[in-house]
Amino acid sequence: MKFAVFVSGNGSNLQAIIDAVKSGDIKAELALVFSDRRTAYALKRATEAGIKTLSLVRKDYATPQSYERDIVISLKEEGIDFIVFAGFMKVLSPFFIKTYPNGILNVHPSLLPAFKGARGIKDTFTYGTKVAGVTIHFVDDKMDHGPIILQQAFRVDKKETLKSLETRIHKVEHQIYPKAIALFVDGRLKITGRKVQVLDKPRKK
Ligand code: GRF
Repeated sequence: MKFAVFVSGNGSNLQAIIDAVKSGDIKAELALVFSDRRTAYALKRATEAGIKTLSLVRKDYATPQSYERDIVISLKEEGIDFIVFAGFMKVLSPFFIKTYPNGILNVHPSLLPAFKGARGIKDTFTYGTKVAGVTIHFVDDKMDHGPIILQQAFRVDKKETLKSLETRIHKVEHQIYPKAIALFVDGRLKITGRKVQVLDKPRKK
């Protein structure tokens, strides 16, 4: 199986995924790193790891449709089987999502359905919840909404600061995202409606 990771920024999750591919925990080929921002640090990480990169910027296109069509063409050319969003901040249309049905994974830095959107960590902190955590889910046509693959929660410390919460959330992301990708690659995720069952043995094809 070949996959692409979509990024917009720092790429610490991308790094965890690169490491998991290298160590053999994820048995798939990371064939492409796509960014909607040319300056994303994640692109440097990809290049250093010898992974092909592509960055296409929405404002260079007349319409969202022509932008997304170009992305899809590149993915098909590379023979990409599934996609992993890792800090990818652009919302793509249902047209794009439908080209990879149940084939796009995302990481979100809160316990969904709480604190959807771009400021999941800050919103968790400000709200004063006693637990925080991370969600890995399939992407569907609504933002931060698709069927949940894995979640991990932890207790918010009395002395927690926004900075410490960020650090703890990223650490959990880097642990559970590669695991979720490996479960997907190994055919151990069975989706029924909103429910994702983690199978002991791979699903029969
Ligand atoms: C992560 O917290 C992820 O959950 C969110 O954006 C952040 C990306 O971090 N969607 P990085 O680029 O992987 O370091």
